[in-house]
Formats: sequence, C-alpha cells, structure tokens
Amino acid sequence: MTTSVTLLGATGSIGRQTADIVAAHPDEFSVVAVTAHRSSQKLAEAALRTKAGFAAIADESAYRGLQKALSGTSIECAAGDQAVIEAASRQADKVVAGISGTAGLAPTLAAVASGANILLANKEALVVAGEWFRREVGKSKARLLPVDSEHNALFRLLEKIPPSQVAKLVLTASGGPFLGFSADALESVTPEQALKHPIWSMGRKNAIDSATLANKGLELIEAHFLFDMPEDAIETWIHPQSLLHGMVICHDGTSFGHFSRPDMNLSLAHALFYSDSAPASEPLSLHDLSRCEFLEPDTAAFPALRLARSALRSGGAAPAVFSIANEIAVEAFLAQRIGFNAIHRFIDQAIAASGAQAAPQGLDEVAALQAETTRLFAQSNSPARGIA
Ligand SMILES: NC(=O)c1ccc[n+]([C@@H]2O[C@H](COP(=O)([O-])OP(=O)(O)OC[C@H]3O[C@@H](n4cnc5c(N)ncnc54)[C@H](OP(=O)(O)O)[C@@H]3O)[C@@H](O)[C@H]2O)c1
Repeated sequence: MTTSVTLLGATGSIGRQTADIVAAHPDEFSVVAVTAHRSSQKLAEAALRTKAGFAAIADESAYRGLQKALSGTSIECAAGDQAVIEAASRQADKVVAGISGTAGLAPTLAAVASGANILLANKEALVVAGEWFRREVGKSKARLLPVDSEHNALFRLLEKIPPSQVAKLVLTASGGPFLGFSADALESVTPEQALKHPIWSMGRKNAIDSATLANKGLELIEAHFLFDMPEDAIETWIHPQSLLHGMVICHDGTSFGHFSRPDMNLSLAHALFYSDSAPASEPLSLHDLSRCEFLEPDTAAFPALRLARSALRSGGAAPAVFSIANEIAVEAFLAQRIGFNAIHRFIDQAIAASGAQAAPQGLDEVAALQAETTRLFAQSNSPARGIA
C-alpha cells in the first residue's frame, strides 16, 4: 500500500526536494494535493510530476494560469486561501508543512486537525502558535515529524534515549555567509550577499534568517516546543562544516550526536519513509569528521539569537512577536528598504512594544499581532525615526 502525501508549499525549496523523493518512489507514495502561493506554472509542474489529485493556489489572480496549465488532465484545481486549507485538510497519511512564514500556520493547523503525520519544516507556525499549536496536536491523531535537519537529528536521537537521561540538547548552525563579520561590517551587506549561503540551498526568507542567525533563534524556540525542554537546556553552537546537526547531552556525562552530510533530502526522506527505513545514502567517514570546528555564536554581531532566547524566557506573545517582526523586517531587507542590522533592531523594538501580552490563541489573534507589528514597522521605519 502506498503512503498518501500532501505537499504544502510544493513549489518551494522544501516542496521541490520532497517532490523529487516522492516522484522517484512511485510505488511507495501517492500525492493527494499540492499547494503554492502564486507560482502557477511551477505548481502545475509539481502536480503533473507527482500525479497529484488536487492543486491549490493561494493567490486567486494566479488561478487562470494554473487552470490552463492543467487543462486536459484529471487534476482538480482551485484558488484562494480556503483552497489551500482544503488541500491541507484532505485525508493524507503525511502532510509536508513546507510553506514559508506565518502564512503556513492556518494550513498546517488544518493538516493537524485532519490527523495526518505532519512533516514540519514551517518552523514559524510552531513558533507563532506555541502551546496552542501543541494543544491542537494533542487533540488530534496528528504526529509531528520534524524535518528541519537539526530537529530531525534530535528527534532521531531522543527516540533512542530514555527521557530521564536527557540533560541538554545542542543545535548547530553553519554560521551563514557572514560568519566572522563584525556588527559594523554587517551594516552595509546586501541582500545578494546575504542570499549566498555557503552550505544550504533554500528559500529567500530562510536564507536571510540563516545569515542573521534569526533562523537559529526560531529553531531554539521550535526545539523548546517540540521536545519540551527549557531555554537554558538548549545550547546553540556554530559548526561551519554542518556535519553534526544535533546532540543530546545526558546526565551521566555521555553525549550522543547525529552526523550526516548537509543534505535536506536525508531528513525529508527519513520523515517520508518513517517509521520504515529511508533508502541508503553515502555515510560520512571519520576523515570528514576530522574537519569539524565548533564556535560559540557571536551574539554581539548577530543579536537575533540572543533576542530569541530572551523572547522564549519571557514567554507570552514574545516568541510570536519575534517571528512576526523578523518576517516583516526580512521582507523589507529583501526589498532593500532597510539594512541588514535593522532586522534585529526592529525585532528588539517590536518585542519591547508588545509588553507582557499573552500568547495568541487563535488565527484572529495572530492576524491582530501581525497588523500591530506591521503598524509599528511603518512608524519605526519613518524618515524621522528610521531603524534602517
Ligand atoms: N529550504 C530549506 O532547506 C529549509 C530547511 C529547514 C526548514 N525550512 C523551513 O521550511 C519552510 C519553507 O522553506 P523554503 O526554503 O522551502 O521556502 P520557499 O522556497 O520560499 O518556498 C515557500 C513555499 O511556500 C509557498 N507560499 C509562500 N507564501 C504563501 C502563502 N501566503 N500562501 C500559500 N503558500 C505560500 C510558496 O509558493 P510560491 O512558490 O508560489 O511563492 C512556496 O511553495 C520555511 O518555514 C523554512 O524555514 C526550510
């Protein structure tokens, strides 16, 4: 029997890599639905390649293009945010949450409610919704299978280690394209430079998040909610070679690490084939591991990681505001409306302005937080009070 899969964000970096694995194993997987924001041609290609039953595009103005590209096929198509939610809700064994940013929250929650196994890439959804997201998972038959390489590594290690033994978790980060840069040097870096990641190939937002270390901040909060560990029991280390992805430190002084080549296909394949074994792939040798370096993150030059830690310690709405403010600022940086360091400056301002607000408990509260943070950004980035 095949495993039925839905790909949310099928046209993105995660979606395309997942589609490659699925299309290479037609006897193992069938595809229920694929979704995208507005890339109608790419969505049609993904639907045809994976033989999906349903293709949903969020932007209604892209519907005609999708319909045309799929005419003469039996693939059903629809447009609008509700169509994406419908795609996420259709019965599937596994749903890949590969939409980028807060836009992924509603479809991911719909997939959770359907009881599917959720291959979670969309870390922003878990960071924004936090305990509420976990409660929704608890109410359904859904299971979270993390595919972020670090969380996938920890998930695999934690399956083998008794919880009472676990003292600390370690997440690694490559350090991104600006490893070793000073705060002063970072003032003038461009989006083009920031998008050139030395190791990983990924979507634009995730690439900028990796360059600012906001990605590791989001992952720290993600690890807290996934593995129920307090902030001070989750270490983050820079490891430029990206061969060790996660480590579990035990009370008895032993540590278990998860090593592999830096390749998203490995964690995606693990979660797609779970709980069976993924196909064999080239292992690392001790020669590869002899190159490993580990450095403490420079939070003076890259304050986003420090801000994420303090947001997690503060609780309430702070983790959600961290993610939402970062998303707004990254978009502005990519559009060259603000500089690189303005990203962390705005996150800091937004968290301070949100005070002791409670964590959002519904999509309307998330939308209100987004509107409030967008307003603050417009004020903060005015010529008189520029954060740029
Ligand atoms: N890429 C990686 O290596 C990697 C690794 C670990 C975790 N992640 C996480 O996985 C998620 C996806 O990352 P990515 O790098 O694959 O991003 P990406 O390449 O930018 O792809 C994003 C996908 O989401 C869709 N999308 C964007 N906005 C949407 C909206 N408003 N409504 C519906 N669909 C929307 C896009 O459709 P269009 O193509 O039409 O815009 C695209 O299919 C992020 O949360 C990221 O942090 C990524």
